[in-house]
Amino acid sequence: MGYNVAIDGPAGAGKSTIARLVAKQKGYVYVDTGALYRALAVYFLDAGIAPGETEKIIAACKNADVSIKYKNGIQQVYVGGVNITSRLREEAAGNMASFSSAIPEVREKLLELQRELAKKEDVVMDGRDIGTKILPFADVKIYLTASTSTRAKRRYDELMEKGISCDYSQIERDIEERDSRDMNRKTAPLKQAEDAILIDSSNMTIEEVVSEIIKHCK
Ligand code: C5P
Repeated sequence: MGYNVAIDGPAGAGKSTIARLVAKQKGYVYVDTGALYRALAVYFLDAGIAPGETEKIIAACKNADVSIKYKNGIQQVYVGGVNITSRLREEAAGNMASFSSAIPEVREKLLELQRELAKKEDVVMDGRDIGTKILPFADVKIYLTASTSTRAKRRYDELMEKGISCDYSQIERDIEERDSRDMNRKTAPLKQAEDAILIDSSNMTIEEVVSEIIKHCK
């Protein structure tokens, strides 16, 4: 059994940045589970399915074959043998994932893959239901959050830095919508596990959050 660190929390709380740094410092493997939902989302979109077409998503999901490989320590996601990692951050993939991840068949599809990874390796796994559902016996559980305005501001700065023009209030609305979908779905909703440590990063630097988490690791 690997040593398991679970980091859950809402969109834009900085989970992936933090999880990656914790993994690097501790020599653990970083598993980005959002990428798995996004990978299936790309697969659904390529099949001509739109968000909301639940029956079609369930049917397509049955044949999907998702796997993970690591190249120079960086996670690569394959669907049907095709590496689709470069497409995961597309806006359309994120939108579709936000809808399709609420479908129980989609979550079921990815359950064993996530558990297998955590069994074989020491991992820092980030997502929405890692501490509550995927790895209920994780050695360390963190619930990482930040205020909506902080998360929107971070996202806004990130896009501006890339030269992508955007509207702050639109970003804030998108974040609120995604939170609400993740927290109110019936299957594995986003919530803090009873034994998770709550970290609100609104007024913390990345380094402070990383060292706070590392304090709890072996
Ligand atoms: O974290 P990220 O934004 O990459 O996740 C994409 C989508 O996948 C989220 O909107 C969320 O609904 C879903 N997700 C999930 N469970 C996870 C990870 C992500 O439902 N463990």
